[in-house]
Amino acid sequence: MDVDAHGSAGREGVQMSLADYHERFAACYDTFYADRDVLADVQYAAGLLKLDASSNSSAHVLDLGCGSGSHVLAFARLGIDATGIDKSPAMIARALAKPVPKGTAGVRFVSGTFRDFCAETNGQTFDGVVSIFQVFNCMESAGEMLAHLKLVRSKLAVGSRFLIDLWNGAAVFADDPRPCERRFRDTEDPETPACHRCHNEDPSKEIVRVTTPQLDRINQRCTLHYRVRTLNAATRETLNEFESVHILLFLTPVQYRHLFELADLTIIDEFRRGQPGTPITDRDWYISYLLQSDT
Ligand SMILES: C[S@@+](CC[C@H](N)C(=O)[O-])C[C@H]1O[C@@H](n2cnc3c(N)ncnc32)[C@H](O)[C@@H]1O
Repeated sequence: MDVDAHGSAGREGVQMSLADYHERFAACYDTFYADRDVLADVQYAAGLLKLDASSNSSAHVLDLGCGSGSHVLAFARLGIDATGIDKSPAMIARALAKPVPKGTAGVRFVSGTFRDFCAETNGQTFDGVVSIFQVFNCMESAGEMLAHLKLVRSKLAVGSRFLIDLWNGAAVFADDPRPCERRFRDTEDPETPACHRCHNEDPSKEIVRVTTPQLDRINQRCTLHYRVRTLNAATRETLNEFESVHILLFLTPVQYRHLFELADLTIIDEFRRGQPGTPITDRDWYISYLLQSDT
């Protein structure tokens, strides 16, 4: 199928390894994903995590792999304190450039590894953790995934929940990723400073993103080669161009469940992304787990 980092079957997409969240990719990120309804995504996540901004005690959520920060800011708009952590300095720079609306809850962005963050915030726990899009699929091995799951567990207050999006390896095997091409106009938030915007702020320009996937079934990895070109929309002349290679490690549901068990995280729900309570099949590329720390 066409690969979609959004997590919706039928749309094409992009993917990611940390090394490829460089300045230019980060500059285009919000344009690539402008069709998301981030506020709705966060309302849904807050409901699953049982975070209630209207209660007297304020809730605090951690967004692991927060990228350009849209979800963190949306949590804050709901009145939920939010901390975003991301390994990519370029993505965090974009998050920090976004205005924090007055009167919202607390917002904090941290650039660095999750391991360092956990060491620096030893003892601090959160009322919920999210990892939205395929952040965990950026990891290099199942061992690294497990180590990160154990760290997430250490950051969860007793009884609090973790919502994680993942690629479903069973679906990847059933329906190979295909090359695809997508075109974008600049649809960024006009409040974003021009220096942080994608290279097509001029509407006479167009971005063309070609994704070429390469599947390694034995090692359960998919390498996504991106070629991103900015064109003069009228003449079709290429104005600038860059490439990015993102490697995704994908596991099957049985393998994910095993890691959750090893990390002492209880599965509350395993479902099609965005559809809690819906059993997954080998046609669902994008799946989510709602997990809980019981002790
Ligand atoms: C697909 S993006 C998702 C970003 C954001 N969650 C969103 O929904 O737009 C994946 C992000 O995960 C980050 N990432 C990957 N591995 C990470 C890790 N071990 N610790 C922190 N961030 C990580 C990347 O830098 C990238 O910004």
